[in-house]
Amino acid sequence: MNAGALGQFPVYRPRRLRGSAALRRLVAETRLNAEQLVLPLFVRAGRKLRQPVASMPGVFQLSPDELLKEARSAHQVGVPAVLLFGIPERKDERASEAYAANGIVQRAVRLLKKELPSLLVITDVCLCEYMSHGHCGLVAADRRGARILNDPTLKLLARSAVSHAEAGADLVAPSDMMDGRVAAIRTALDKAGLDETPIMAYAAKFASAFYGPFREAAESAPKFGDRRSYQMAATNAQEALREVALDIREGADIVMVKPALAYLDILYRVKAEFGYPTAAYAVSGEYSMIKAAAANGWIDERAVTMESLLALRRAGADILITYAAPDVARWLKEDAR
Ligand code: PBG
Repeated sequence: MNAGALGQFPVYRPRRLRGSAALRRLVAETRLNAEQLVLPLFVRAGRKLRQPVASMPGVFQLSPDELLKEARSAHQVGVPAVLLFGIPERKDERASEAYAANGIVQRAVRLLKKELPSLLVITDVCLCEYMSHGHCGLVAADRRGARILNDPTLKLLARSAVSHAEAGADLVAPSDMMDGRVAAIRTALDKAGLDETPIMAYAAKFASAFYGPFREAAESAPKFGDRRSYQMAATNAQEALREVALDIREGADIVMVKPALAYLDILYRVKAEFGYPTAAYAVSGEYSMIKAAAANGWIDERAVTMESLLALRRAGADILITYAAPDVARWLKEDAR
């Protein structure tokens, strides 16, 4: 058709599609799906224990029996995976309980895999909850002050990951941010015959004030100093991409960006640059802010939660780690009706 012929047709203004909810869904570019959700859970020894975390309404430290209930009800509404954090009975300077065969996480994994075999059980691999000083690695204190000992920490992280996988964890997720931990964990898993256990690396994990409520939940606040020597600086995006590249080279199967909402640019770039399965962790502070504002009647909890998660999906997240996972799964079911 030549230009003259085209000119015979009226030209309409481009316009947005309007109309019914069904039409809006038909043309939606991004979707939320319960299959993308991961629910973080906190487990500690005891029975019938549901210890509320004050700064995170709806989140509890759970004894294994209660953990099972919580996991079952989340799984029933469609949440496919949980991410386990342990609170040990004893903390020491070598994080012994982190890699004890009968540690709290190892026991919880065995219980969950036995009772709920179709639930994916992911374990957070870190030492801070198990260390008396609350740091993610071994600490040396000498004339120069206290320092984190990167390389000696790798052995303990690898032992933890192997013990989780031996207990039946489907996926291990190192969150410590020591250099070389993914390679150390991959090597140790392979050597233990656990070559099919994938690694979800907290690859771009920033030193963030948004972790505040978590440290109450996991009782893991550092007793001195902060985590800035091993977690990333909020000023640096290029460095975050380098960290992700390193973790991938070391054998990470899934990479994570954390926190989520304040780091959407990082998430977008990580997904665009590497095209790897990418997880976004909507951390404790993000959850608490929504809960607090909603409790005051200042925002609509459901709408804000869904809108925030949609932003993570738009930015490129395949996997959404959120304390609101069971609510979200329920809301999605209601929306589909
Ligand atoms: C352990 C760890 C932390 C989080 C996940 N794993 C805390 C931290 O690094 O201080 C934070 C999760 C959250 O805030 O929801 N290293």
